[in-house]
Amino acid sequence: MNPSNKHSHDSNLCSYRARILHFSHATATPAQDYVYYDDGLMVTRNGKIVALDDYKTLINQYPNLAVQDYSGKLLLPGFIDSHMHFPQTEMLASYGEQLLDWLTNYTFPVENKFADSHYAATIAEIFLAQLFRHGTTSAMVYSSVHKGATHCLFSAAKRYNMLLMAGKVCMDRHCPPYLQDTPQSAQQDSADLIKTWHNHGRLKYVITPRFAPTSSEAQLAMLGELAQDNPNVFIQTHLSENHHEIAWVKSLYPQRSHYLDVYDHYGLVRPGAVFGHAIHLQEDEWQCLAQRGASIAFCPTSNLFLGSGLFDLNLAESHGIPVLLATDVGGGTSFNMLRTMGEAYKVCQLRGGQLHPLHGLYLMTQGSAVALGLDEQIGNLNPGSDADFVILDPYFDELTQLRFTPDSEAQDILFALSMLGDDRATVATYIAGTAVYTRGSQPVVNATQGAVNA
Ligand code: GUN
Ligand code: ZN
Repeated sequence: MNPSNKHSHDSNLCSYRARILHFSHATATPAQDYVYYDDGLMVTRNGKIVALDDYKTLINQYPNLAVQDYSGKLLLPGFIDSHMHFPQTEMLASYGEQLLDWLTNYTFPVENKFADSHYAATIAEIFLAQLFRHGTTSAMVYSSVHKGATHCLFSAAKRYNMLLMAGKVCMDRHCPPYLQDTPQSAQQDSADLIKTWHNHGRLKYVITPRFAPTSSEAQLAMLGELAQDNPNVFIQTHLSENHHEIAWVKSLYPQRSHYLDVYDHYGLVRPGAVFGHAIHLQEDEWQCLAQRGASIAFCPTSNLFLGSGLFDLNLAESHGIPVLLATDVGGGTSFNMLRTMGEAYKVCQLRGGQLHPLHGLYLMTQGSAVALGLDEQIGNLNPGSDADFVILDPYFDELTQLRFTPDSEAQDILFALSMLGDDRATVATYIAGTAVYTRGSQPVVNATQGAVNA
């Protein structure tokens, strides 16, 4: 067979020419250990990546290939946002409170709206449209306490064939009665949702106790049992975000040795468990996270916005704990993962350290995928992975046209976009080989007429 045209008659092939950057494997040194093609070509078939190489090398193997030409633009793996709240989409940037008052005054009243599944379905569309507009293709998401709203979120993600991880929030105390479930209903509803949605297509379920103060011991025990019965299901909750919260947990669980021990006691600390924030940990907690193989979601815009504190990325990584970057919308202030990386950089600066842009990119792509055990599907551009990717335009406005030259290095572009960028830089976002966002096209739902004010 002539190798030069072995693929030329495959009509399911698509290909993309661009500056291509990704991490092909797990690494502790992402600033050195990356794959980059200044003039690269990625070939996909039926939603999966089949080849990636230098354009000139690869094009010879696919002589009649139709090429989508993004030359000069950056092609990266789709971003993974590992901690966010879909019912909080409409309350971003709510003024003036720290965590516990913010939950009482803003969060709980808004989440009550999600008792209405019609409303939840409308917001789910807006939420996903925001992810795609910012280049995010996978996320680990808190729904509201409502089973119906959680069905709506999964149904919407399924239509885009998206790898979404999500779970119904469980809380049976210390929140308004209209938002409370019970230990039994939380376990039953979560079990039903696991049955319907976990590994349904690309979807994954996440057992989701909101945080220790809003779950009784009975509820944590029943969710621990559910986790044991479903060892491949993910777990997410909040940990050690705010000093008042930590003192409260201490008073509610005096028999536990520290905040994390509350979750550990019920078997909720394990690989695939993602703990949001983890800002004020004591040494035993760092060690416990490391021993159990659990991960931390670092949410810098939220931590700054709610005045929660400065996460110690260096200390977490020196304990060998995987760290995943996340927006925490709506405690976070942006859907944009690059901007989130920019705020992470500032947090590291205030801690006396630095965050290299390639390290930041790793935390929102391959690093997250590895921590979640999903790196054969997402987080990278390896042949065999799903074709989830984003195309970024470095020169999207007057300022970036001044800032960059044709010689600008990819890492410099990433860094500057983390400070100056926004959704105007997103040219297109692809999920499993299909464009779910294209710059200049209409949003899926017109938010100005949408349900926000309904
Ligand atoms: N702790 C418990 N619930 C929440 C929430 O919705 N957002 C944040 N940032 N922290 C929490
Ligand atoms: Zn959160």
